[in-house]
Parts: sequence; C-alpha cells; structure tokens
Amino acid sequence: MPGGGGVTRSGATMLLLAIETSCDDTCVAVLRDGAAGVSLLSNLVSSQMIHAEYQGVVPELASREHMRTIGPVLREALSRAQVPLDAIEAVGVTNGPGLIGSLLVGLSLAKALAYARDIPVVGVNHIEAHLASLALEHEMSAVRPPFIGLVASGGHTEIVLATDWSRWELLGATRDDAAGEAFDKVAKLLGLGFPGGPILARTAEAGRADAYAFPRAWLDLARGELDLSFSGLKTAVKLFLDRQGWPMAPADSDTRARLVADVAASFQEAVVDVLAAKLLKAAELTGVHDVVIAGGVAANRALRERLARETGRRGLALHAPAPALCADNAAMVGMAALHHLRRGECSRYDLAAIPNLDDWDGFYRPLP
Ligand code: KG4
Ligand code: ZN
Repeated sequence: MPGGGGVTRSGATMLLLAIETSCDDTCVAVLRDGAAGVSLLSNLVSSQMIHAEYQGVVPELASREHMRTIGPVLREALSRAQVPLDAIEAVGVTNGPGLIGSLLVGLSLAKALAYARDIPVVGVNHIEAHLASLALEHEMSAVRPPFIGLVASGGHTEIVLATDWSRWELLGATRDDAAGEAFDKVAKLLGLGFPGGPILARTAEAGRADAYAFPRAWLDLARGELDLSFSGLKTAVKLFLDRQGWPMAPADSDTRARLVADVAASFQEAVVDVLAAKLLKAAELTGVHDVVIAGGVAANRALRERLARETGRRGLALHAPAPALCADNAAMVGMAALHHLRRGECSRYDLAAIPNLDDWDGFYRPLP
C-alpha cells in the first residue's frame, strides 16, 4: 500500500491498533503508517457462526460472542503483526452506528487500552470506515475525494458525498430494510441459508433476471430523491412465492431449482436497478466524477458489473474494494482513524457508543 505519509505531525512512523465490533464480526488489525505509506501488519476477522441457526443476527448473542472472542483475537492480531502491545501508539475503534451491545465491547477495550497507556483513541464511523477501505487499497492511485459513496451491507444502505476521507454528507439512506438485509431475508424465504447475500448471488447466476417483474421503489427518483426502500420488494417476493404454493415439493426437482434461480436473479436485478439508478443520480446531481461502492453488498458481481458499465457510459469512474475488504474488517477502521490523526484530531476518552447514524458523534478534539 504505497503513498500517504507519516501520521504524526512530526512525520514519524506510527503503529496503530484498530478494533471493529459493530455487528457480528470480531475484528482487530494492526497498521503501520510511515513515510513509505500505510502497511497492514495483520487483519483478523472472527465471524460469528452462532447466528446461522436463527438466519439473522441476534444482538444479545452477538455481544456475548464478542466478549468471548475479543481477547484472543487481539492477542492473535498483535502476534501476527509481531508487535507488542506496548509498541501501539494509537487506537482506532468503531463507535457507531451499529448494535449497541456489540459496539460497547470493542469500544470499552479500545478506551481502556488508550487511557491506560496515555495514547490517542479515535472513534470511527462505520460508514466512513467502509469508504476508507478504498483508501487502503488505492492510496496513490485512482480515487480521491470528492466522490459519491454507496455503503451497502446487512445493516446499512447509505449514499454519501465525501468531500474528504473524513468529511462527508448523507444524501440518501434506506427508509426500511438495508440492501444486504433484503438479500438475507429473500435467501431465507428461498431456504438458501445464512448469510444469504453471497448464496443468493451464486444461485442467481443460473437464473433469468427478467423472469419475474418484481417492484422497484424509485421514491421520486426523477425529482432527485436519493432515499431507498427494500421492504416492499421483499414482501412482493414473499407474496409471489405464496401464490406459487411455496415451499412446495414438486416431483420434478428441476422445476423447483429453476424457480429458485429465477426468483433469485429477478430479485437481484430489482435491487441492482435501484442501487445503480440512485447512485448515478447522486453523481449527476452533484457533478462528481468518482463513484465508490463499499460494504458487503459491494461484493455482488451483478452490481459491480452494472455499475462498471453504466459509469463507463457516462464517463464516470467506479471504484470498489477487493471483495475481501467489502465485508466488515478492522483494517478499514484503522485507515479511517489514520485519516483523522493526519488531520491532527483524535477523540475524547469519554467517547460513547452511538447506535444510530443520525445521532453519531466522533467526540473529536485536537491531538494533544
Ligand atoms: O459489510 P458486511 O460484512 O456487514 C455489515 O455491516 O452488515 O455486510 C454483510 C451483508 C450481508 O447482508 C450479506 O448477505 C451481504 O452483505 N452480502 C452480499 C454479498 N456478499 C455479502 N449481498 C449480495 N451479494 C453478495 N455477493
Ligand atoms: Zn459493515
């Protein structure tokens, strides 16, 4: 990862610990920022399997699992980075939005470590962190703010205008289900397993995207409305399946497999249509040339291909992280924290966990 420059105002190298526990992944990373740019020394993700049984994240189980795992994941991240805890000079941590119990586990650890060692702690917004995954990969190259960003995951669907890596404005958000949540719920209806997004996307590859005309919630797109909605689409799929007598056990398993693949492909097409149209509208309204997608749903191939084609036709540039960096991880949190440190800011030690995006605050103050 080239480029960048030292994090401290003196330009010296800095070792940063990053922690992410906003949902159901326990993540710790160690980053080094120096004159030669940012290096990722370790990046551990421990995904919680416990939720598969419920086919959705159970918040209380998620916090308990974070409590159980965070210590070992921290030790392993330091060990793989070959960095002793004493050498860490700053801590970046997601303090919202997310599940409150989950956030508190990572945040409490981060604050305790930073306070005890008298080093800066940086509260990071989870949306900003997803966008920062692009900075990790492309520090010297393609993408620089301003850009239009889409963060689409199991808990979020937000369209933002980023004027800097750590300065951005919300242009639109889902009014109900997140895009990834819609994928997960439809996958559950189809009996595909959890998390449903990647499985549904794979299933859709064998189906016809124009098999069924599921509804698209445009929400006054022509007038520039950038909010989104996916719960109607999910309900339409459910009603359609009910009408088909689902879950049926047809004698012919090929018929059943075709129905599942066609529903998956038609549903995915509806989500891609809306996400792409809203994102392109945001670019048109702001006159911004670069478009960034991030979050678990950004790993979706149909979405990536559609956006690559449509941005290309309009002379815009699309940037997406490698699929491995789309999902939750602490490397992106570390990168977002570095952006704040480079601006000369960190958070107060009394920073709180904030579950809702609208209320989120980084409790920033000048670096001591
Ligand atoms: O960013 P992420 O790992 O965690 C959250 O912050 O939620 O995103 C996970 C979400 C899940 O809803 C998952 O089903 C969805 O992203 N997802 C996908 C794909 N890969 C993951 N959705 C559609 N297509 C995919 N290939
Ligand atoms: Zn996320």
